[in-house]
Amino acid sequence: LDNGLALTPPMGFMSWERYRCLIDCEKRPNECISEKLFKNIADVMVEEGYKDAGYEYVIIDDCWLEKKRDNVTGRLVPDKKRFPNGMKAVADYIHSKGLKFGLYEDYGTSTCAGYPGVIDNMKLDADTFAEWEVDYVKLDGCNADPKTMDVGYPKFGDYLNKTGRPMVYSCSWPVYQEEKGTIPNYELMIKHCNLWRNWDDIQDSYDSLKKIMDYFSRNQERIQPQAGPGHWNDPDMLLLGNYALSYDQSKTQMAVWAILAAPLLMSTDLRSVTPEIKAILQNKEIIAVNQDALGIQGKRVILINKIEVWVKPISPVSKTGHYSYAVAFVSRRDDGFPFDFGLKLSDLKFDNLNGYKVHDLFAKTKTLIPQKYRTEDTFNVRINPSGVQFYKFTSL
Ligand code: GLA
Repeated sequence: LDNGLALTPPMGFMSWERYRCLIDCEKRPNECISEKLFKNIADVMVEEGYKDAGYEYVIIDDCWLEKKRDNVTGRLVPDKKRFPNGMKAVADYIHSKGLKFGLYEDYGTSTCAGYPGVIDNMKLDADTFAEWEVDYVKLDGCNADPKTMDVGYPKFGDYLNKTGRPMVYSCSWPVYQEEKGTIPNYELMIKHCNLWRNWDDIQDSYDSLKKIMDYFSRNQERIQPQAGPGHWNDPDMLLLGNYALSYDQSKTQMAVWAILAAPLLMSTDLRSVTPEIKAILQNKEIIAVNQDALGIQGKRVILINKIEVWVKPISPVSKTGHYSYAVAFVSRRDDGFPFDFGLKLSDLKFDNLNGYKVHDLFAKTKTLIPQKYRTEDTFNVRINPSGVQFYKFTSL
């Protein structure tokens, strides 16, 4: 969507994966979907360096609403107990921290968790969002006919646009169409949405992470060309910091999400993330790969011996017109032992005869010896099981 927003993949926090529809604030006061939670998150994003690293949006997912619209005005009403001061107050707080405010709604008659959807009140709801100073809208697609989405999603987008307030527009329409076996119309999505969820929800497990990586590589010829500044594919939230992923698996998700030019939406309790995971989430060089201004989504280009090689063209482009690259060597092996793997740069179709300077994006000592790799040189790595080695190849 050409609205000047999301020129690089959006970064921020989104509540769903970690907090779901936790609405019992008496039992779980620090975790329930409430004004308090999002204020806490905003505070931590600033105090603990997430904002400085580029994380910007604080996004409230499902379960923020009252079950019924206002009798008189027909407007959406935030849950009166959990958001006692309304949404504008939450937005004001988030804005006062120099962050941006995102909100979830659903295109259909109700949200996936059963709260009122926008379908019969599109103009009113878009206007309400603008009044509340929303900066990012995630519009889900439960409880709706996927056949109507090609018209309905653009219609809500037009209402957002007409408010005059710039709002990132995240669509979920491909998920629901693909479920029904329809290939979504990407041209329309590029025109009307800043990003879109392509497929299933991510869950907090390595198995779910692998399934999503497999979906994106299996369908990459169709999906990859759709991404670019202002319009991104969305493989769903980052799991880092939660229960399931090991340290190595956490690095794997971060590296692959960087390669995919995916939105980086953390969904974890930022108040209690370990220093190791925080360092991955705030790794500046990896974020730079994800946020690269060229905006080219990477692909999985090799799969041998259960080793996957994922490559993303990035800047700088050399004087000779050759891209630099981010390269992630991901091990899908489960034999419990680090695996030695090597390939020639020409196997990756790197063809700058001047060669490449290589940096390890996760290591403390970053510059590799030798300082220059030529296309016929073999590049050797040792990868932990379910882990990753991640490098930047700068074109000389
Ligand atoms: C769907 C979406 C999730 C989340 C939930 C909320 O499943 O895909 O990301 O927003 O709905 O109910």
